[in-house]
Amino acid sequence: MAADDWIIPQNHAGYSAQEHAIWDRLFDRQARLLPGRVAPEFLDGLDFLRLSDPGIPDFAALSERLMQRTGWQVVAVPGLVPDDVFFDHLANRRFVAGNFIRRPDQLDYLQEPDVFHDVFGHVPLLANPVFADYMQAYGRGGQRAKGLGVLANLARLYWYTVEFGLIKGADGLKLYGAGIVSSHSESLFALDDPSPNRIAFDLRRVMCTRYCIDRFQQSYFVIDSFDSLLDATLNTDFGPVYADIIVADDIVGDAVLPEDRILHRGTQTSARSAKP
Ligand code: PHE
Ligand code: FE
Repeated sequence: MAADDWIIPQNHAGYSAQEHAIWDRLFDRQARLLPGRVAPEFLDGLDFLRLSDPGIPDFAALSERLMQRTGWQVVAVPGLVPDDVFFDHLANRRFVAGNFIRRPDQLDYLQEPDVFHDVFGHVPLLANPVFADYMQAYGRGGQRAKGLGVLANLARLYWYTVEFGLIKGADGLKLYGAGIVSSHSESLFALDDPSPNRIAFDLRRVMCTRYCIDRFQQSYFVIDSFDSLLDATLNTDFGPVYADIIVADDIVGDAVLPEDRILHRGTQTSARSAKP
């Protein structure tokens, strides 16, 4: 029976050599692919946290380094946790990570986030002070949204930023969403494929846009910088935004609207599926 906070021991000593080897394979593949494609802040976090050390990271050692930089910790949970538990951890600068790793036949696709998605995908940016503040603010915002019955709308913000966000770089678009950077195939697709829309981030637009969890994204939303993302969320009272979108229609995933700032209009020809 899980504790109220759903935290369990990571049991780092319990991983088999095969399990560590799966991490190493996934890590090497992404470490080769991502330079030049991913936001420099992500690579900086990877480096600072020494995530290239072989094997599945020990959450205690990882938390110690992360704590020095941004005051965040990584704690183990058995899998997905209830929303209010998730938000409470974020609001207190604790990132919850699954402690299990995918099987060798799941290198390219699995349903539930495992330690590779959660740690490799999410934790490097938690070493960035601005992104770290965004994640904490999101946790507080989640508690509020739950009370207002608009969690589905706020969840879209998480989806299109934290999980599948793109950012403008000095020399073109870069990846930063954890769902992209932990997936080999979507790391290619999100930047290179003509199929998906790439649209400038707009808070209200994103919170109205549906998403599918079992295929590549039909639209990616592009932020100018982490500072601008933090500014558009932390310093905006979502109350009036929620009041407005609660009476608005949802937007489907592949839609392009007249008011969108379009960076690339997708052909929407791809129906291939993939995930974390
Ligand atoms: N400012 C938001 C609100 O008023 C909270 C929030 C901050 C949500 C950052 C997401 C990210 O509810
Ligand atoms: Fe995730």
